Amino acid sequence: MNWWQESVVYQIYPRSFKDSNNDGIGDLQGIISKLDYLEYLGIDVIWLSPVYESPNEDNGYDISDYFGIMKDFGSMADMDELIQKAKEHGISIVMDFVANHTSKEHKWFKSALADPQSPYRSYYVFKPNQGTLPSDLQSIFLGSAWELDKNTDSYYLHLFAKGQPDLNWHNKPVREDLYEMLNWWLEKGIKGFRFDVIDLIAKDIDHGIIGDGPKLHEYIQEMNQATFAKYNVLTVGETWGATVEKAKKYSNLDGSEFSMIFNFSHILLDQEAGKEKWDTIPLDLQKLKKVFEEQQVGLYKEGWNSLFWNNHDLPRIVSRWGNDQDYRVESAKMLGTLLHFMQGTPYIYQGEELGMTNVKFHDLNDYRDVETLNMVQMRLSKGMAMDKIMDSIYKIGRDNARTPYPWSIEAFGGFSQVRPWLDINPNYVNINAKDQIGRNNSVLEYYRKLIWFRRRSDYRELIREGTFELLYPDHPDVFAYQRVLDTGVLSVYCNFHSTPVHLDEKVDTAEAILSNYDTFDNKRGLNLRPYEAIVFMGKRE
Ligand code: GLC
Ligand code: CA
Repeated sequence: MNWWQESVVYQIYPRSFKDSNNDGIGDLQGIISKLDYLEYLGIDVIWLSPVYESPNEDNGYDISDYFGIMKDFGSMADMDELIQKAKEHGISIVMDFVANHTSKEHKWFKSALADPQSPYRSYYVFKPNQGTLPSDLQSIFLGSAWELDKNTDSYYLHLFAKGQPDLNWHNKPVREDLYEMLNWWLEKGIKGFRFDVIDLIAKDIDHGIIGDGPKLHEYIQEMNQATFAKYNVLTVGETWGATVEKAKKYSNLDGSEFSMIFNFSHILLDQEAGKEKWDTIPLDLQKLKKVFEEQQVGLYKEGWNSLFWNNHDLPRIVSRWGNDQDYRVESAKMLGTLLHFMQGTPYIYQGEELGMTNVKFHDLNDYRDVETLNMVQMRLSKGMAMDKIMDSIYKIGRDNARTPYPWSIEAFGGFSQVRPWLDINPNYVNINAKDQIGRNNSVLEYYRKLIWFRRRSDYRELIREGTFELLYPDHPDVFAYQRVLDTGVLSVYCNFHSTPVHLDEKVDTAEAILSNYDTFDNKRGLNLRPYEAIVFMGKRE
């Protein structure tokens, strides 16, 4: 067994976690000041979204120096202190490795633009200007993926924002420089990496290949050997194009690639095939069950799953597939229960443990996300109505996840003493950590229990190693499954809707080990109230 198979990861978006010096921007000292809180929560690992030097066109996912710390966040001394102090709290740090692209401010790119003879020219993807765009390839953030550089009269490729030129991984010196950087951080005591959009690195533009290039796995295996194979670390690839079959390769138990990947198949269920993410459709519960079943059964003893609902790119799950109006607390706990009893390594995104919700800013000027703002430009230019556009931002925009962390009812939620870089969600007066710490039945205390079950309870082996079997596969409201090992059976029942449900099952109160309601109703069967979740020990009849 690997240590990361029994760990719980907590993702921090540093800009929005805690501001220590009151400039409105979260920072490393802010995180250090909250390590006690994270230890109380019970997590083992922090995945830190990028803290490297960056001009922040995409909030740190555009890196200008991989060996430096963004001034907004502090200094390298602060980073060293964070690694050290986290360790004293029993917490490891996993960093974000963003190397499909650099920032346009990176010295490699600057050199490539300044001098067509520069060796760094071949670090990127350039095409000569022949009067038209090299192709009609679109950026993932919308608009052409090609940008003209007037100085060298050539186009460069950017699959994301204009300030994020794509690296050319087919050029060996690029890979070697990146590996050197990974090793430098590993030597500092980092316990792993999350690999940003890693399935795009082996693109072959000339043959129209973007994701899953033919050399993708060769490069991952080479990187593994050249860097983290020598360290006992957690590695997780961000792979939007993954399927269970692909996940078997990426997370092969022989250790040749990554510990695990983020498979987004469940997350993509409210996007219509072939459409943009902004065109959402309602969730089909049957499909959700099927996707999880495939992941759970498919990777059993063949690979390893990550378990997640949220991250800094996704809307808040309680607003997305729960009910953030009438059943916010119940549905937040239900969704947590569903995930945390599955096999894999759970990832909690900051604020998920409070049941944080999406936000609605009425003024477009209050939004900061480059992807969102690009989309607005594009859709306005196509004549789409502004209120429709705003609705899609409320549903799926990335700033939903990025509002500052609400620590208390103080001004600006105790995140900062000044107005933050992105406004706090006004509901911080009701949803904040101070209110939930130690309060029986809060979402936070429930998440502590979920973590306890997996980390420290007698059920931990069963949760880690048990098989997965879907129950009631066709039920329109219930998502239920059981986990089986020779030591026992755990059954998890979740009502996904606000309609009460009756299941004709004999249940015994004594066997319930967790519920998101105070009491439970087993008169003449199992009755699930709105968004109710119950976990039983023992086999059901
Ligand atoms: C990943 C990151 C996202 C970023 C993009 C480009 O999807 O999670 O935040 O914008 O890659 O780096
Ligand atoms: Ca600050």
